Amino acid sequence: MMKQIKSVDELIKLKEAALNKIKERQIGNKTTIVVNMGTCGIAAGAREVMMAIIDEIEKRNISNVIITQAGCAGLCEHEPMLAVIRPDKSQVIYGHLDKEKARRIVIEHVIHDKVVEECALAQQA
Ligand code: FES
Repeated sequence: MMKQIKSVDELIKLKEAALNKIKERQIGNKTTIVVNMGTCGIAAGAREVMMAIIDEIEKRNISNVIITQAGCAGLCEHEPMLAVIRPDKSQVIYGHLDKEKARRIVIEHVIHDKVVEECALAQQA
């Protein structure tokens, strides 16, 4: 049964605790890799890129990475594309990828925190 709240102070404390939990979840220490899997992304090889990333992450036993997919980014000519989003750093969007470049992004950016400049299309704070 839920604990009864008896004072405004208690309510404020509860609210703060809930907000902190949300913040922790948002910040965490996880890196998110978002692969664009729209029709043109898939046609350009996004599936192979996704498989290479999953393989590299598994092979290296990396546990603090979330791999997910998004739809069309509206930039067909730059596909296959993905974004690396780190909790404490800027977001980097990569384009014109293939399996090898995808593996490099895992090794250089995700593990060694070094943006693969030659494949980066944009960086957002
Ligand atoms: S159809 Fe969406 S970017 Fe090409």
